Amino acid sequence: MTTPRYPLAIIGAGALGLHFASRLSACGPLAVVARSEARAASLRAGVRVGNACFRPEAFGPDALPQADWVIILVKAGDTADAARTALLMRPRGVLSLQNGLVEDVLREVCGSLPAGQGITTEGAFRDGERVVPSGAGDTLLPPGFEAVADLLMAAGLRARVEPDIAAARLAKLLVNVAINPLAALFRVPNGALLDAPHRGLLDALVSEAWPVLRAAGLPLGEAAAHARVIAVATATAANRASMLQDVLAGRRTEIDAITGALLAMAAAQGIELPTHRAMFTLIRKLSD
Ligand SMILES: NC(=O)c1ccc[n+]([C@@H]2O[C@H](COP(=O)([O-])OP(=O)(O)OC[C@H]3O[C@@H](n4cnc5c(N)ncnc54)[C@H](OP(=O)(O)O)[C@@H]3O)[C@@H](O)[C@H]2O)c1
Repeated sequence: MTTPRYPLAIIGAGALGLHFASRLSACGPLAVVARSEARAASLRAGVRVGNACFRPEAFGPDALPQADWVIILVKAGDTADAARTALLMRPRGVLSLQNGLVEDVLREVCGSLPAGQGITTEGAFRDGERVVPSGAGDTLLPPGFEAVADLLMAAGLRARVEPDIAAARLAKLLVNVAINPLAALFRVPNGALLDAPHRGLLDALVSEAWPVLRAAGLPLGEAAAHARVIAVATATAANRASMLQDVLAGRRTEIDAITGALLAMAAAQGIELPTHRAMFTLIRKLSD
């Protein structure tokens, strides 16, 4: 039996992957690729997303359908494996909406195939077997992924192609390097970082990261960089950062693709970032 060719597939049936998939499946065919056939079968039987039971067209890695476009929504450390799976689906392009900086890994695996990393502030988390959407956001895609933006918009998601996607990724990285490790280390919701005793460290992380990110193309002055991080911590005050959720669940964190990416950028500029280096070492130790 031949499987159909899908307009879009999502690799990664976790919190964000299933959140996007449930929205997109309501508007047209969508393939969800899980890590194993057993997981795909369990998804086909039904998974709770929000208050509804979602039955995705789910596949394991051994029986992949073809797809025009593939969105990767696995954790950063699984990017290369997911990209290799994406290639087997013979897509026109592969898009990551992950956190951290993963575009180099994606491009290395994808070779001459169009591959790029966008960003999203859509939110979802796992509550046992259930996925809970935690807030609507904006999804920015690299040029070349207009067709994917159209599919996301058709599903009612706020999405657009951003000509300067590299700058947008740096702005997201700024927020992530400041909020994620601190929240995970002190095991507090984002809003707690706005007050003593965490606020001094939050400010120090932004001050240290800013010159490096600015030199790499961050389109924010120093005061605006601080204001951006404070605004996100305020708007997400009750949320548990994804790195905190990973630490609490005993999962590997995305510290390498977040703080590790910043440290690599700083090293290339000949700059030391002692506070970020300490965060990197401590979080690595926590998730050993
Ligand atoms: N959740 C959010 O609100 C949010 C918001 C913005 C950005 N992001 C980013 O989006 C990405 C995904 O986050 P998430 O919260 O959805 O993570 P998650 O809940 O951990 O989901 C990731 C899923 O990918 C699966 N997976 C891993 N390797 C795979 C492979 N090779 N093939 C197929 N599936 C594979 C995992 O399976 P196993 O469970 O079997 O490992 C898991 O189900 C991360 O980079 C995150 O930072 C998340």
